Amino acid sequence: MGSLAVDLFGKTLKNPVMNASGTLGYGVEIEPLWPVETMGAYVTKGLSAAPHHGNPTPRVWEERSGMINSIGLQNVGVDRFFSHYFPFFVERRCPVIVNFFGFSEEEYLSCAKSIEPHDLIVALEMNLSCPNIKKGGISFGKEASAVHAIVRAVRGVTKLPLIAKLTPEVKNLVEIARAAYEGGADGLTLINTVPAAAVDVKNRKVPLKGGLSGPLLKPVALRAVHECSQAVPIPVIGVGGIMNTGDALEFLMAGARAVQVGTATFVDPFAMPKIIAGLDCWLDASGCADISAIVGATHG
Ligand code: FUM
Repeated sequence: MGSLAVDLFGKTLKNPVMNASGTLGYGVEIEPLWPVETMGAYVTKGLSAAPHHGNPTPRVWEERSGMINSIGLQNVGVDRFFSHYFPFFVERRCPVIVNFFGFSEEEYLSCAKSIEPHDLIVALEMNLSCPNIKKGGISFGKEASAVHAIVRAVRGVTKLPLIAKLTPEVKNLVEIARAAYEGGADGLTLINTVPAAAVDVKNRKVPLKGGLSGPLLKPVALRAVHECSQAVPIPVIGVGGIMNTGDALEFLMAGARAVQVGTATFVDPFAMPKIIAGLDCWLDASGCADISAIVGATHG
């Protein structure tokens, strides 16, 4: 049997599959269906220093090729996550990646500072890419100099490995990826959703503007992963339209050390365990001893 284990920031994850931030609640919600520790790691919903209510409804819109969301970063706040939800992951020995954000540099710093290292925390994932809030978030993620500055500032206040989650809505993503790396990022998550709108013809309204996710995004994300993983010497986590095992393999071969699954879980809540089982079968069928051997294995 081949091994699905991958090394990420000095920790060994049992497989390279995790949820995309915000697509699996606080983890407890999936338990009636499958054990959360089935995944290599659980990624939290974006956490902020203070709790946040998010945007008014409607917040999600189904599209032919995926979905649009505008949740507006609703979350219980970082303190509540650690007092109330983190023990669930400790009990199950499930590694956690803590996604976080701020509306200002001070808020990013205060949130990162408040997260104590723990053997189950793999890394902090800094959201520099949410399209659904007016200040903070994406405004830090669009200019290389701003990315460099905020990553460097956060790097200075935490010893935990730091991942920058980037938006593709920029002129030159490779330049932004380099800025994150030079600012001190230990890894990159590529990519967040792209800005989109829905139109309700019957009511002649635009009911929702938000971030588009799902299969339409996959080739965009694959290009980002392929180019950025060659440009910076840090692990890339690939996300964007992964619906099945074949999609996950494409991301790994394009250069992703691990993958995140988001929209697929809304279509089929068992998508992640199926992808993990599918990767296992693929290893056996292809005679590959180690999933890490295929990371970046495309030629040209
Ligand atoms: O609106 C949201 O909570 C989405 C966040 C994100 O895409 O980063």
